[in-house]
Amino acid sequence: TDPGEFLGELAGEEVDDLFRSGRRRRWPCGATLFSEGDQSTTVVFVLSGRAKVFSLTAHGGEVLLAIRGPGALLGEMSALDGAPRSASVAALEPLETLVVPVSSFLKFLQDHPAAAMRIVRMIVARLRDSDRKRVEFGTYDTLGRVALRLVELAERFGATGSEGVQITVPLSQDELAAWTGSSRESVTKALRTLRRHGVITTQRRSVSVIDLNLLRARAR
Ligand code: CMP
Repeated sequence: TDPGEFLGELAGEEVDDLFRSGRRRRWPCGATLFSEGDQSTTVVFVLSGRAKVFSLTAHGGEVLLAIRGPGALLGEMSALDGAPRSASVAALEPLETLVVPVSSFLKFLQDHPAAAMRIVRMIVARLRDSDRKRVEFGTYDTLGRVALRLVELAERFGATGSEGVQITVPLSQDELAAWTGSSRESVTKALRTLRRHGVITTQRRSVSVIDLNLLRARAR
């Protein structure tokens, strides 16, 4: 299950309340929903499509923090603490969203304590995830980190077919590199090694995991 999945856990009446306080908005592929450092006025619920959360380094590089899919709540951090946006968010695919003003969102949480509790759990899940990634960065080599991210993508977004588990996420090798904290060259090398061992095959912007157990073993 996606730790960022928020909408799917809400009761029908809660969802109705949210939709009443927001408006639907479509974003084309590549559109920027939030820019890091901006003051926040809205939160955004993803109804369909996927978005990337990223931060820019001092050298202009991009660090990919997360990929968020349908049901995700985005923008809750600055809505809750009033600080500027912690990261930027851009559409990896055309997105359908519900945009809710911060004031309505905070009122919604007061009216629905169970929903507020879910946000607490979501943030705890993210903290665990980020602790785990910090340990991974110190423990695993690039091959292990690439394998870990592919296992995560396969479990969250994979479609099982005759060719194993197909992951179609519009991520470039640069983005995969930024996500695993590695250089593009070492990611290319890691993918080549996994291909050579028959664990994956790669197509343009998609990866087929032929043997998920082998991939899991490599990620351990
Ligand atoms: P906010 O800080 O308002 O704007 C950027 C949003 O990106 C943030 O709220 C969260 O919704 C999301 N975000 C930031 N960091 C992460 C992360 N590590 N994992 C998932 N989502 C994140």
